[in-house]
Parts: sequence; structure tokens; C-alpha cells
Amino acid sequence: MSWIHDKAYADLARIREARDAGVYPFFRPFESGGLRTSVAGHEFINFSSNDYLGLTQHPAVKAAAHAAVDQFACGLSSSRVQATTVAHVELEARLARYFRFPQALVTTTGYQAMVATIMALSDRDTTLVLDNLSHACILDGTFLAAGTPQRAPEVRFFNHNSHRSLERVLKSRERKNALVLVEGIYSLDGDKGKLREIIEVCERYDAVLVVDDAHGSGTLGAHGRGILEDLGLEGRAPIVVSTFSKVFGGIGGIIFADDAIIDLIKHTARSFVFSATLPVPIVAAASTILTMLEDNGPALVAELHENAAYMREQLVARGFDLGISDTHIMPVMVRDERKALVLHHMLYDRGIYLVPITYPGVKHGEERLRLNVTRGHTRAELHQVLDALDELGAMAEIRVQDRKATEGQAAEGA
Ligand SMILES: Cc1ncc(COP(=O)(O)O)c(C=O)c1O
Repeated sequence: MSWIHDKAYADLARIREARDAGVYPFFRPFESGGLRTSVAGHEFINFSSNDYLGLTQHPAVKAAAHAAVDQFACGLSSSRVQATTVAHVELEARLARYFRFPQALVTTTGYQAMVATIMALSDRDTTLVLDNLSHACILDGTFLAAGTPQRAPEVRFFNHNSHRSLERVLKSRERKNALVLVEGIYSLDGDKGKLREIIEVCERYDAVLVVDDAHGSGTLGAHGRGILEDLGLEGRAPIVVSTFSKVFGGIGGIIFADDAIIDLIKHTARSFVFSATLPVPIVAAASTILTMLEDNGPALVAELHENAAYMREQLVARGFDLGISDTHIMPVMVRDERKALVLHHMLYDRGIYLVPITYPGVKHGEERLRLNVTRGHTRAELHQVLDALDELGAMAEIRVQDRKATEGQAAEGA
């Protein structure tokens, strides 16, 4: 046994505990894709999918991918620099048009797109300014830049979604240029970025804003153009980074910006230049979903919002605490790791899949079950999870009324 095995044993104590207790929730091997699937013949409804418009399984999307396999196979065995196809170029032009940016660049994952953006745009003259609840791709891009001798930007954090805290950081930064990184919807809390106030501060301090709209593209705004459309701010943020791994039914990243910024990223970002091209069947699937948005975007988005509004009303009426969520991503707050794992398991036994989010994904005491409402879930399915949560939530005492009762008893006993 080497030191690395000692380290693995020590670092995985909580995983071992969950496995020993029979409540380990991760890496379950699905036997099919989609919102309804099975593991070892056990069927369940998936409420952890990010297929927010429910289009991933659409026959037209699959047919487009099949046709692209015949023409291009599953890979191009090289990076975009020497393996770009007409399909990539055409999709980039259409994405730019739909999302109202001068240019778009398709990458192989959203994570890569963000790392590429941060690495290409930061240097010793830059302060990177991050929300303290930033997604891992923003953190990792930042730490990679900070640790790269030729880049080495200053790194500063501001309080989650607080334009006042952002302003204090911008005022006191040590480098000439500032790149501010925020999200359209924060993926674990389901709250929207307060972009109106943030953009005003950025404009005042001449800071360049990057918005990660992975969860807002295709879900927010009347046409699904994202958080900027939703808040009436189109044209006010110079760079948006997004993904094909949610609404666009596959995998892949997108960077929206003007010609100069896209040119800089595509020629200098090592994570883009030295990693393989997005396979054309995936490009074809995303293209087909983009066509659906072009043809029918407002109706698709409205159906998602109807399901989300209905579910929110039902959950709140039953006393569930949804934290700071104001979107279709609704964390059911449990605030206890053991309970979150046990509840996940009991829901799974009832045919419902809700992933528990625990430390280090969230702070201790903020454990939750992340419930994603999609356009593809039926009302009957929403009621299946509501009924199960009703029963199990009361038992686990996670509803607002249960907590109040417990606090009341504690006060009486004191
Ligand atoms: C906010 C946010 N940004 C970026 C990503 C990364 O996207 P991808 O899955 O395409 O790598 C995700 C996905 O988890 C995300 O939630």
C-alpha cells in the first residue's frame, strides 16, 4: 500500500460510512436515458435531470444524431483547430443569431468553455472577481489562471449576489482590469443572478462581465434566450458562457461574445486548442433543439414555467423550505446530511430519483434534495413526488411546521 492508498482511505471516510449504511446515492447505472429510467430493473422518475425542456429524447433529435454518425462518425480525432466541420460553423452562426451576440464558439463541454474564457482573458493586469457561490468551472478556471506564471491574476470574492459587496471589491482591487464572473441561475440554490444591479456596478467600474448561463439558456426569457432576456438586459453583458448539457440535450459548451474576444479565446485558450472537437452527432442534436427553439421557443419555455410554478405552489403549500430558489431548480432543504441521504434512498425505493447535495457541494447544515422541474414531467409525476415528500418530509421533520414544532418543544423544555 502506498501513501496514496492511505490518503484515499482517509479522504473517503464519509463515502464508506454511506456505503456501510446502505445509503450511498451516486453513480447508479441507468439502463436508459430520459426522465423515466431504471437501475437493475427498478423503474423511477428522474427529478435530477437538467433536460429542462424535455427535448433530449425527441425522435427528431435522435434522427439528426443518427444521420450525423453516418456522415462524420462519432469523433474527428483532433481539436477544433484542425478538425472543424461545416456543422460546427453553421451551428455557431445560428446560436449567435438566436442569442443575439455577434459571435459564438462551440466547445466540447461547458466546463471547458469557462476555463478557456478565464485563461484567455486574464493576466497580471487583471483582477478576477467571483461570487462566493461560483460553480466549480469558474473556480477551477480561476485557480488555474492564478497558478500559471504568465497569467497570475489577482483573485477576489464577493458575497453571493450582492452588488454592494461586488462594488467594495472592485473599488479595492489591486490590478488595473477587472473580470467579474457570475451565473444566470445558481445551480445548487436555484436563484437567479441579480444582474441588473451587478451590470450597473460593472459599468461604473469599467469591469468586464462574464455570465455563466448554463441553467438559464433555453429556460429563462420569453424565447429562452436566458437571464439577459429575462431581465431585459440584452446587449449589456459582453460575454455569456453556456452549455449543451442541459436544454440542448447532449454535451458541449458555448461562448458568446464579439469577434475580437472569440478570436482571442479560440487562438490562445489551451483547454480549447489542446482538447478534441465536439463530435458532429452531438452538434446535430443541439442544432435540432435550436431549430425547435427558433420555431416554437415561447411555447416550450412557457410550458416549463407552468410546471415550475405549479410545483413551487404545491411544495410551499405543504411547508417545504425551498431556500432562496426562484426558478425551476427547487432545492428541498433538509439541513442534515444523514436525513438527506436516507430521504434520497426512501424516495428511490418509491420510484423517485432526487439527488442529495451534501458537503462540500454545500455548507454543513445546508444539505438538500435538488429537485429539477422540467417541461417533460407530467402533473401525475409531480404529484407522485409531492405525495412521497408529504409522507417522508413529515417523518423526517423537514417541513417548516415540523421545525417550528420542534423549536417550540425545545423552548418549553428550557
Ligand atoms: C453553472 C454551471 N456552469 C457550467 C457547467 C458545466 O457544464 P458542462 O456540463 O457542459 O461541462 C455546469 C454543469 O454542471 C453548471 O451547472
